[in-house]
Amino acid sequence: MNEPTPVFKEYLFKILVIGELASGKTSFIRRYVHQLFSTHYRATIGVDFALKVLNWDENSIIRLQLWDIAGQERFGSMTRIYYKDAVVGNWKRDLDSKVTLSDGSNIPCVLLANKCDLPKEEPFLNASFIDKYCQDEGFIGWYFTSAKENINIEESASFLVSEILQRQ
Ligand code: GTP
Ligand code: MG
Repeated sequence: MNEPTPVFKEYLFKILVIGELASGKTSFIRRYVHQLFSTHYRATIGVDFALKVLNWDENSIIRLQLWDIAGQERFGSMTRIYYKDAVVGNWKRDLDSKVTLSDGSNIPCVLLANKCDLPKEEPFLNASFIDKYCQDEGFIGWYFTSAKENINIEESASFLVSEILQRQ
């Protein structure tokens, strides 16, 4: 008996990369899409776009539209002082207040602790603290990443894509 021919599927997913000024959002995307890294910092103005095409498996192709959003767009210089130790949570809450999936649930969001090639400070010395933090704040997972050293760039992106796929 012949196996039924699997349906070939094409997906387009929109991925937002948000976070603090100079945290490495553009660098993450450049590394992921172009395998490039530069130490030169040029702040993103507004939003930039990049496209990455994944031959996910033999039956599916996934186009990722990466939105590289300027860190300076959000939270002006005054509020930054109040938010100091809580910026990540604020980004997350801001996101959840503005976008949800069609069923009303939050969009899947991965926390990236970038620049892990540099010496770590508290609270990043304590992985179980970050686990707990992500649970409390509703992140689906987190990674130490380095755009510079190409650490966990592919892995973190693939994790998010597989989570998005599960929600289709
Ligand atoms: P905005 O567009 O202003 O929001 O900044 P951004 O988050 O896009 O940061 P960007 O990628 O421009 O990087 C800022 C600086 O951090 C640059 O000098 C990068 O070279 C540096 N940088 C980015 N990622 C890493 C990393 O993984 N390790 C190290 N050591 N430096 C990094
Ligand atoms: Mg940028």
